[in-house]
Amino acid sequence: MDHATLSPLTARRAGALKGRVRVSGDKSISHRALIFGALTVGETRISGLLEGEDVINTANAVRSLGAKVERTGDGAWRVHGVGVGGFRTPDGVLDFGNSGTGCRLVMGAVAGCPISATFDGDASLRRRPMKRILDPLELIGAHAASMTDGAPLPITLNGARDPIPIIYRTSVPSAQIKSAVLLAGLAAPGETTVIEAEASRDHTERLLKHFGAEVRLEAEGMQGRKITLRGEPELAPAAVVVPADPSSAAFPMVAASIVPGSEVILTEVMTNPLRTGLIVTLREMGADIEALELRSAGGEEVADLRVRASALRGVEVPAARAPSMIDEYPVLAVAASFAQGTTVMRGLKELRVKESDRLSAVADGLRANGVEVEIEGDDLIVQGKGRVPGGGLVATRMDHRIAMAFLIMGLASEKPVRVDDVGIIATSFPDFASLMRALGADLS
Ligand code: S3P
Repeated sequence: MDHATLSPLTARRAGALKGRVRVSGDKSISHRALIFGALTVGETRISGLLEGEDVINTANAVRSLGAKVERTGDGAWRVHGVGVGGFRTPDGVLDFGNSGTGCRLVMGAVAGCPISATFDGDASLRRRPMKRILDPLELIGAHAASMTDGAPLPITLNGARDPIPIIYRTSVPSAQIKSAVLLAGLAAPGETTVIEAEASRDHTERLLKHFGAEVRLEAEGMQGRKITLRGEPELAPAAVVVPADPSSAAFPMVAASIVPGSEVILTEVMTNPLRTGLIVTLREMGADIEALELRSAGGEEVADLRVRASALRGVEVPAARAPSMIDEYPVLAVAASFAQGTTVMRGLKELRVKESDRLSAVADGLRANGVEVEIEGDDLIVQGKGRVPGGGLVATRMDHRIAMAFLIMGLASEKPVRVDDVGIIATSFPDFASLMRALGADLS
């Protein structure tokens, strides 16, 4: 998708938000369902797949690597896999657009195959760090050659002929690093182990088990995990039901909390505890969020969430909570702006290497709308005054979550909030604007 032309959008204060909606499928699980399906011998059926640009790029990539990938209906996809280690050298460059997850996970899968593939992406992805992925993949036996001096992408990765099982301690709590190592480890004989000091989202581990691999989980210290995978399994086809994405639900959730009189039900939202840091935090701030009908779908916990508007107060968000809400800080900062009192969000170093430098993008957007904010080291401090002047123009910086967070701000601020480019929202939440309008939001 070409994002060369800017498409701005303005959010204005309107009435209360009301209604019952289901946000699109979880992005993390959607990428993984396609990749694991491609490494399985036989046919995997996926329902509820997120049909956003990031995931479509992953579908195209695994197709170029030899899997047969077909869309059979709305969110319904079929993948005919080639088996562990079975990828072939693609004809062209694998273009992952804006998606760090797609790019890094497929790097892991390619690293375990005796093939060569070139990885590229848009201007945002070309700036993001890849060494954190390539370091462990080189230990496994892959070799990466940078195509441009110093730039992380484009890069050509030569997979290992004889992948070596490794024990790897991740440098930062990152599900992408963990997943890349485990995906490469699938093709290695013996056991591959990843140790993380703080547990990151565990969809890879859950799906590996779902597809029949042997995975052992052990506690590591207070908050960490040790994950051990037995290599060279024959992955068996298994249907994947993708639940609604909690990181997309975060936007209507905060909107319903800050727009007076709102009551919204978000259905079938994944409530995996490694993804629910925002709900924990909003509840501490005084948000009225009730989980109805807790159940299990596709190996994940899900619930319908009823969110009603309420007065919020500032809180301190510990650094240890960051992995379970890493993508939710932009919209949490918006909630904090409408709260009474100071909100301190600690340990946000990783936000600097997301689709944009989110720490500075959030701070700039808040300031542009009259909110007092500071960055101290890796902490973000927002002075909530219970009201937000608004009236600012926000630079999206090729970051979908910055665009969505500030549109949510405009639904409750005194003056409208304008976002300079909303095309990028299609990477993760293509029907964001229509879903928000269906709830009563004024976006035009
Ligand atoms: C993701 C992991 C997170 C997150 C990203 C999706 C995943 O990144 O920010 O949006 O699906 O594994 P890190 O693992 O780099 O923290």
